[in-house]
Amino acid sequence: MIDEQFVQVKNLRKVYDNGHEALKDVSFSVKKGDLVCLLGPSGCGKTTMLNMLAGLLDPTSGDILFNGKSVVKVAPKDRQIGYVFQNYALYPHMTVLQNVMFPLTVGKNKRSKAEAEKVAKKYMEITQITELANQKPGNLSGGQQQRVAIARALVQEPQILLMDEPLSNLDARLRLKIREEIRSLVKRVGITTLFVTHDQEEALSIGDKIILFNNGVIQQDDVGQNFYLEPNNYFVANFVGNPVIDNFAVKIADGKISGSDFEIPLAALDQDRIKGELTPGEYTLSVRPENILPSEQGHFTAKISDVELIGRERILKFDHDGIQARSLVNLETTIQRGDQVQLSMRLDRIFLFTKEGTRVY
Ligand SMILES: Nc1ncnc2c1ncn2[C@@H]1O[C@H](COP(=O)(O)OP(=O)(O)OP(=O)(O)O)[C@@H](O)[C@H]1O
Ligand SMILES: [Mg+2]
Repeated sequence: MIDEQFVQVKNLRKVYDNGHEALKDVSFSVKKGDLVCLLGPSGCGKTTMLNMLAGLLDPTSGDILFNGKSVVKVAPKDRQIGYVFQNYALYPHMTVLQNVMFPLTVGKNKRSKAEAEKVAKKYMEITQITELANQKPGNLSGGQQQRVAIARALVQEPQILLMDEPLSNLDARLRLKIREEIRSLVKRVGITTLFVTHDQEEALSIGDKIILFNNGVIQQDDVGQNFYLEPNNYFVANFVGNPVIDNFAVKIADGKISGSDFEIPLAALDQDRIKGELTPGEYTLSVRPENILPSEQGHFTAKISDVELIGRERILKFDHDGIQARSLVNLETTIQRGDQVQLSMRLDRIFLFTKEGTRVY
């Protein structure tokens, strides 16, 4: 069915005038009504991607389809898109109410003034800016401006909503509340949404799926839990997860994995998880802190250098080959700084990466 995949991006490339290739052969699709998060470090190409979807930038090559039709030659105003820009882009001479109403006072979406005002006020209530109706953007905080921009994008009830870090200036509580509002709203109205963030927890909590970029290349396009459980490569394993994953330099030789102070026979691995040939050589063994835990009989012994409380859990920090590593344990642990503990890894949860970052286990 055509509208099953409402947005399709095919082999998209963007080379800027200065020769910088911001996106390299990017392909993905988004189902109608889904909320998809574009995640990745600063400079990976997220805003470039949204600008091409909106029609503000022309692709160097490749295609973009909405509902099965190419939109590459369609003007931005005819793409039925709502866009919340990274820098808000509010009209400084208009009040908050006028800003939010604006899309309903021009072009195809034009309505009577009374009706435009009614719709605007509905979305201003949702984004909690009702009291600011008569202020000018110059008098607002960053977070308030951001909410005005969100309300302005929503009033058009667009087919596709593009949001570029829409919550970056909000305090933690408001951020949580507004992101839940955004999700329930776009689900209720059925708007296909692409939501840019570099906050992985935000992506995991609101995205139907996540597309993780690095250096203009998609690293993984998947549901949230797979970024934890089945990362495609070293970059993904290290980008997603808090506290971050532990990485140990290891060698494979003579049928076993050898770290500086532990050995694991290859036969002890879960054979179903082997993805590539485990040829002799150097690898990185990576394990999430929740999968390396104190135990009576561990893989190695470590001296705990620090214990950090993070809400319901504690992080035991230790040095391994001069690199800090972590074990994530229950709040009630009696282990203290300076203790020697044996640590055991869940072998069905570890990952092995080649030097190039390809996952082989
Ligand atoms: N007009 C331009 N000319 C040349 N290079 C550009 C231009 N705009 C962006 N770039 C470069 O393209 C890359 C991608 O930029 P983009 O703005 O898409 O990143 P981003 O993922 O949105 O980053 P951030 O999280 O910091 O907003 C960056 O390396 C950036 O320096
Ligand atoms: Mg950006």
